[in-house]
Amino acid sequence: MSDNSNKVVVIYKSKYGSAQRYAQWIADEVKADLFERSKITLNDILKYDTIVYGGSLYATGILVVLV
Ligand SMILES: Cc1cc2nc3c(=O)[nH]c(=O)nc-3n(C[C@H](O)[C@H](O)[C@H](O)COP(=O)(O)O)c2cc1C
Repeated sequence: MSDNSNKVVVIYKSKYGSAQRYAQWIADEVKADLFERSKITLNDILKYDTIVYGGSLYATGILVVLV
């Protein structure tokens, strides 16, 4: 968990695990909360000061699954 002055969340969407692994490394390094995209709501995301998103690329762009 990050401190109260700058709450950081790392959110990821991963098909085969690579984006998940990088998201975990980043979250560990900056002491951020970590969520898979479908496990966090927009209201919860808005409670953070810094939002990091990671997803793999599959030809059409970054992998995102919206709500
Ligand atoms: C069908 C397919 C299409 C891909 N398209 C791209 C692409 O357009 N650009 C890119 O940089 N990587 C592309 N990749 C590579 C993946 O983004 C890369 O392997 C990524 O690490 C997979 O992440 P994941 O394990 O979290 O799903 C593609 C991979 C596959 C299998």
